[in-house]
Amino acid sequence: MPDVKTEVTDFLVIGSGVAGLRAAIELSNHGNVSVITKDVPSESSTEYAQGGIAVALSDEDEVGIHYEDTLKAGDGLCSEEAVRVLVEEGPERIMELISWGAEFDREGTKLAFGLEAAHSRKRILHAGGDSTGKELERVLINKVKAIHSIRRLPFTLAMELIVRDGACLGALTLSERRRVAILARATVLATGGAGQVYSITTNPQVATGDGMALAYRAGAALEDMEFVQFHPTSLFLQSAPHFLLTEALRGEGGRLLNTRDERFMGRYRDEMELAPRDAVSRAILMEIERTGSDHVYLDLRHMGEDFVKRRFPRVYSTCLTYGLDITHEPIPVCPAAHYMMGGVKTDINGRTNINGLFAAGETACTGVHGANRLASNSLLEGLVYGRRAGQTAAREGGEAKTSRRQMDLSLSFAPMPPHSIPAHDEIRGDLRRLMWLDVGIIRNEETLLEAKGKIEQWRYITEKSFLTRRELELKNMIQVAGLITEAALLRKNSVGAHFRSDFPGKGAGWRQHTTLMKKRTETDIIF
Ligand code: FAD
Ligand code: SIN
Repeated sequence: MPDVKTEVTDFLVIGSGVAGLRAAIELSNHGNVSVITKDVPSESSTEYAQGGIAVALSDEDEVGIHYEDTLKAGDGLCSEEAVRVLVEEGPERIMELISWGAEFDREGTKLAFGLEAAHSRKRILHAGGDSTGKELERVLINKVKAIHSIRRLPFTLAMELIVRDGACLGALTLSERRRVAILARATVLATGGAGQVYSITTNPQVATGDGMALAYRAGAALEDMEFVQFHPTSLFLQSAPHFLLTEALRGEGGRLLNTRDERFMGRYRDEMELAPRDAVSRAILMEIERTGSDHVYLDLRHMGEDFVKRRFPRVYSTCLTYGLDITHEPIPVCPAAHYMMGGVKTDINGRTNINGLFAAGETACTGVHGANRLASNSLLEGLVYGRRAGQTAAREGGEAKTSRRQMDLSLSFAPMPPHSIPAHDEIRGDLRRLMWLDVGIIRNEETLLEAKGKIEQWRYITEKSFLTRRELELKNMIQVAGLITEAALLRKNSVGAHFRSDFPGKGAGWRQHTTLMKKRTETDIIF
């Protein structure tokens, strides 16, 4: 008896953050859609997004200015075509979202726009002050619930993509320790980022880079994996997780102080606290080293108690639960891994190099963010490119599968020898610390080679099959950590968020992208 049950749907969407939900809504006009997600439906980076969503809709703004700011932040490596699509289609996607019930904050009757680093205009829409992602998830989940052709499958984890004869036929999934092959005409990967490969991260537990690892193992090309964005300000308290302290706090006038009470950003950048994220994160690291401390402070005390409570209710109340009143005390902060600019390489329609496989959102690399993402551009990317991937998948998805085909597939999976990893939680912790220390904000050949050597020791894990979520996640984390390290070694220059202390300038060849792709059992690296 095969131990794999087989199910058939027209379209499979993996992930229920902004990109996956937006893709599913689009696909639902063309057939049945199954949206699988490995936790509760709302558990995603989208749910925790604070600052907001960038869009050129204010009276003082223009699409062309949003375009220029995005290119500048990307430090010369954005795809101009992809950025143009983002900024031009963004306003329509936001108006659509508002028509579906999204309630963004307003000043009087007009939408209120906030400022964040590296934006030359106020263009960040926000909801509930600092709970923008929660509002997006609420609206998109409600919309999806109202569509009968969409089936939602929570606590269903994609273990592997099913690829036969060069085409993706769906995914092998795990649900309550049962393997189910979900076959589909087209599959959209929207599994989000990989912040969990670092010990200090703003990302939720689900962000273990699964989509990138699955796609890589299936033969997809991954691009620019060395570009990891570190957010300058996450909460630094022994008793608390590294809760994000939104960039909007600095946008509204928050100041960075070192442990000697000095406002230090002027030493590094004219833009002070509103310099690009990579510059602020590196400046903080240098101040930490200079002062022999392990954190700096974000100071809001001058902004006024009423304003802080009204504009940032979630940050205020979260810090208060850890005994910190941010209206009266400076907030201890340190940088944290926050966002993957690199990912599964796609074109502007979400196509990967594998037929039938599409990708959108943080797991994808459309080229929109280049070497450094402009703050608050990723929720917009999820909406714009989630829709595009859905449209293309609907148009180009293959034939519906026959029952004979299902039978063949189910037989080809059985039986599976179960494995388990001794001390997997220990390895997980070691890997995350290794990545933070050796492949973090500042890297060099020596640290990268050390990381590569250690990751190599865990390589056997990436070749085995497991039946628990945590073990499968570890397998993916090791794979993605290896890819980030490999790409960081290949890029012998410093661009955007990738800073090599042994190659501190851009140097020759910096405009090239890094592409990693597995061929048969070997790694085929094109640089
Ligand atoms: P996600 O929203 O992360 O969704 C991924 C989904 O895939 C989840 O449902 C997850 O459970 C599921 N999944 C993962 N692996 C599997 C698997 N193997 N099988 C099945 N399901 C799987 N960006 C902005 O633009 N503005 C902001 O203000 C902002 N604030 C942020 C604050 C925080 C704390 C964080 C962490 C990020 C923030 N970002 C912000 C970035 C932004 O939130 C994310 O880049 C974006 O939400 C990613 O959307 P997504 O749909 O690609 O992935
Ligand atoms: C933040 O609110 O600072 C996060 C914004 C983002 O990551 O785009």
